[in-house]
Amino acid sequence: MNKQEKLALVESALEEFYGDQQLAANLREAVLYSIHAGGKRIRPYLLLEVLESLQVPITIAHAQVAAALEMIHTGSLIHDDLPAMDDDDFRRGSLTNHKKFGEALAILAGDALFLDPYALIAQANLPNEIKVDLIASLSLSSGSMGMVAGQVLDMEGEGKHLNLEELQTIHANKTGKLLAFPFQAAGVIAELDENLQIQLKTVGELIGLAFQVRDDILDVTASFEEIGKTPQKDLQAEKSTYPALLGLDEAKVFCNRTLNQANEKLDVISQLVDFDKEPIVKIVESLRINA
Ligand code: IPE
Ligand code: IPE
Ligand code: MG
Ligand code: MG
Ligand code: MG
Repeated sequence: MNKQEKLALVESALEEFYGDQQLAANLREAVLYSIHAGGKRIRPYLLLEVLESLQVPITIAHAQVAAALEMIHTGSLIHDDLPAMDDDDFRRGSLTNHKKFGEALAILAGDALFLDPYALIAQANLPNEIKVDLIASLSLSSGSMGMVAGQVLDMEGEGKHLNLEELQTIHANKTGKLLAFPFQAAGVIAELDENLQIQLKTVGELIGLAFQVRDDILDVTASFEEIGKTPQKDLQAEKSTYPALLGLDEAKVFCNRTLNQANEKLDVISQLVDFDKEPIVKIVESLRINA
């Protein structure tokens, strides 16, 4: 299955879930506005790609798990952009959710996108034991043990000088865990042994760390057209970022070195189990920042 086919399955899963939600038409509109705003879909794509690399034939149920992940990610962006948080007017090249629908509906659209995914996974055609594992992992990656906690640490870090370890903890949680979930979920669905599941999750954690360092670098170096959001926001908000702490050049080296580590780990895994690492290496390479 090619990339377009995989992503089309994810779009259908999202569409089908929200398709007949008639209860609050404005909520549906606000949710679908951000869902359809043109995100890169790297998290759901990774999940389906890793599954296929593990020789698991892709089903609608897998696309539903991938869609659930993208829902949480999209909700996290809506809340991240709120005036009380990063206060951004543009996301994915369009107005942010609160600029379009007002703060109250944006908060509620985020709430819906955090809660709906669990029903979507629970209703998927997969063995119950696997679904319970997936629901627990997604919750732990997203809530007080993951993304939300990372966002709190990120906010509290504004205007402070954090050390590398503290910064890494923020990035690992606010971004790393939702990028590690595709690897963790694929391991669960493929029923890999525990050691392999842990190794696979480590790849996701490395990609997740590199992904946020890359985002921090692009905030400094990229244009609005390239990133679809207002650049230079982190400096303004005195955010703790890798470029702020290490300097731009060292941050690029750090990003690329972390991606190298992900590739090395993929190689180890491919020697332990029937795993075609190449499609994942290709995604890793697409995240490289030219020094
Ligand atoms: C943006 O994530 C927020 C971060 C975690 C850095 P993405 O760069 O994946 O955003 P979309 O989904 O493509 O808009
Ligand atoms: C976003 O970090 C992390 C989450 C949304 C969880 P940023 O605040 O750096 O993301 P952007 O730059 O607004 O996309
Ligand atoms: Mg933020
Ligand atoms: Mg932000
Ligand atoms: Mg950013």
